[in-house]
Amino acid sequence: MSELITNIGELMTQDGELGTLRNAAVVLEGERIAWIGDAGNAPAADTATDAQGRAVLPGWVDSHTHLIFAGDRTAEFEARMAGESYSAGGIAVSMNATRAASDYELTRMALGRVSEAASQGTTYLETKTGYGLDVEHEARSARIASTVADEVTYLGAHLVPAGMDAGAYTELVCGEMLGAVRPYVSWADVFCETGAFTPEQSRAVLTACREAGLGLRVHGNQLGPGAGTALAVEFGAASVDHVNFLADSDFDLLAQSWSGWDGGAGERGTVATVLPACDLSTRQPLAPARRLLDAGVQLAIASNCNPGTSYTSSVAFCVTTAVLQMGLSVHEAVRAATWGGALALGRETGTDEDGKRAVGSIAVGHRADLHMLNAPSATHLAYRPGMPLTHQ
Ligand code: NIG
Repeated sequence: MSELITNIGELMTQDGELGTLRNAAVVLEGERIAWIGDAGNAPAADTATDAQGRAVLPGWVDSHTHLIFAGDRTAEFEARMAGESYSAGGIAVSMNATRAASDYELTRMALGRVSEAASQGTTYLETKTGYGLDVEHEARSARIASTVADEVTYLGAHLVPAGMDAGAYTELVCGEMLGAVRPYVSWADVFCETGAFTPEQSRAVLTACREAGLGLRVHGNQLGPGAGTALAVEFGAASVDHVNFLADSDFDLLAQSWSGWDGGAGERGTVATVLPACDLSTRQPLAPARRLLDAGVQLAIASNCNPGTSYTSSVAFCVTTAVLQMGLSVHEAVRAATWGGALALGRETGTDEDGKRAVGSIAVGHRADLHMLNAPSATHLAYRPGMPLTHQ
């Protein structure tokens, strides 16, 4: 079954060769993009949709979410808005509620969150464990996550549960818990921060998870300066996320990690993932996205949807904030939230033969993940902040 989408006002492909096209058309065959070109030359297809001059972008690739949780942390948010600062302690509130929820409840709530994200243009999504924090509940979170998300990350190293020795818990994360989640996950993450996991503990987690064959990511430099970013680069992690408090040396390390990349399948560096909604919701300084890009670092923008620091899955809101508050152009922000997210997940390339089609950009052979705006250009995402611009 083929579908022609014609009369597209602005087709922002995020493909290096195609760029942004005007008056374009796209043909989809099943789940694959089959043709792209001028609307006047479009081939016939089984069905046709007239975009009526609307803009079409790649669907958002949300590379950082925490959707497997139960419970409510409104009171913590209210206290923060009244002047308290964010501490990771609230993770325990979500842990208790998550452990108490049934499989059915957890799955239903996670699916609801995925559906909210999809209704705002997200077409590919990562999510993490991290509110189970014992063997049984981390494995359950991983299993449920694998039924609702495209990519699943193991975050047993989110917080040391109260009453547990940090060393003993880290051993559990690196041993029995890792074995229990392994069938469901392809990534591992560690919250390397004062009050969460020390650099030594983080190193142990990253080492064990790498040996288990998982790709690596790091929550780093969210609450203060520290070793998270340097560790991420040292371990060749696919991304370091948050990056609010970076030292000059962290910029250098991240930039150097990309210096040998030829843009293809060769050795890649560590993507810096900024989380603008989280920065606003925790009243932290905004991550230095402009400086990272200027330094030559590959950037992703993600929602970080979670109950503590960022209870939104609106990538459009994050893109708007990146333009209005972080100094990015519309094109740079959209790129970071589509192609950049895919790069952070190792999904920016890929073919039918690989078994996984590329996401995050619009090109022939890529997954047919298109996001049509109710606007003639992507500029409207920043020009009309907060408006419901996802048409389809
Ligand atoms: O990415 N920083 C650690 N994890 C989450 C927040 C977790 C929570 O407070 O529930 C984040 O911001």
